[in-house]
Amino acid sequence: MGAPANVVRLHPVGIEFEVEENETVLNAAFRQGISLPHGCKEGQCSACKCVLTQGEVELKKYSTFALNEMERDQDYILLCRTLAYSDLEVELLNYDEEVLSKSIPVREFVGSITGVSALTHDIRRLEIVLDQPLKFWAGQYVDITLPGAETITRSFSMANSPSETKALAFIIKKYPNGRFSSKLDGELVTGTEVSIKGPYGTCFRRENRNGAMILIGGGSGMSPLWSILHDHIGSGENRPVYFFYGARTRNDLFYLDEFEEIAANNPEFTFIPVLSHASDDNAWAGEKGFVHEAVSAHLRRSPPGEDVDVYACGPSPMIEALTPVLQINGIDSDRIFFDKFTPANT
Ligand SMILES: Cc1cc2nc3c(=O)[nH]c(=O)nc-3n(C[C@H](O)[C@H](O)[C@H](O)COP(=O)(O)OP(=O)(O)OC[C@H]3O[C@@H](n4cnc5c(N)ncnc54)[C@H](O)[C@@H]3O)c2cc1C
Ligand code: FES
Repeated sequence: MGAPANVVRLHPVGIEFEVEENETVLNAAFRQGISLPHGCKEGQCSACKCVLTQGEVELKKYSTFALNEMERDQDYILLCRTLAYSDLEVELLNYDEEVLSKSIPVREFVGSITGVSALTHDIRRLEIVLDQPLKFWAGQYVDITLPGAETITRSFSMANSPSETKALAFIIKKYPNGRFSSKLDGELVTGTEVSIKGPYGTCFRRENRNGAMILIGGGSGMSPLWSILHDHIGSGENRPVYFFYGARTRNDLFYLDEFEEIAANNPEFTFIPVLSHASDDNAWAGEKGFVHEAVSAHLRRSPPGEDVDVYACGPSPMIEALTPVLQINGIDSDRIFFDKFTPANT
């Protein structure tokens, strides 16, 4: 018989659950249908950081960008890396009632690839049909594991609206020698079976809010935002929506016809592509520079007031450049939702 499970008590929410030996606290919570603040689940992003007020723990390998030495000395921990050696008392730093109340138990699914298509020179759309419906909120992600001798598991955000529960779509950027993404051009063909686990993620669309909604994406950060946008449109809610999308050049833009159609049918919708490498592209009449600079200029020109939700998804440097811009412009941190697409550590 294994060691008896330890108990984790979360403050100030008063939630209590068991954690088994060799199981991280975050995974134990997922297993029991409790969604705690999290992002990458791999010790890279810091979204699950909180304070251990009592108990013995060991932390699996993590990035010091997510938890620095000083914080560790002050008993900060990352729930996604924490193994419990006794009962624990944990103080959550940033918990969100809506994340807790909208927890969807994490489950495993069998998927079969139904298509891979090119959206740009290095962005692919991957389509997968599941053996059973997956309930998720727009903006969430799953872990996809490829078959084969060496296990490759990567996180990808659903691009489809949550109303489609069995046919999932993903927008994926190809990295040179990317263990997962480089297989999109050849190896991952129609009929390939994959394992899927989820849903994960806290950057999901909050319903029935007032004021503007600002979506900010870079590269494959389009994936969850495309889902959030379509879910918002499908909900029939009315609010101004500004969609800032950062890319290098015009060759990196896609879905332009679709955006045009959405704008034609939704007078409150504005798409703002921003090109970082277009200084000598005289034919480009749109925004030039980095996406956080365009967002900053927009917020200074038209301050959104208190009622605004921001959803930002993409590479960590983009999110890190954006955060101070949003703070300086007075956007409430409780209404900023983001997913950093951090690289996997295996
Ligand atoms: C919560 C979450 C959601 C995500 N959603 C998506 C999504 O919807 N679409 C999507 O395309 N990706 C998404 N990602 C990233 C994805 O999980 C993989 O990390 C990415 O596809 C690279 O995997 P790979 O196996 O192809 O590359 P790897 O073999 O892991 O890496 C190959 C090379 O590329 C570099 N690299 C990998 N990722 C990055 C990066 N983000 N920035 C800079 N260099 C990098 C590595 O350093 C390495 O040199 C998400 C990540 C997280 C944490
Ligand atoms: S560091 Fe724990 S979820 Fe990212």
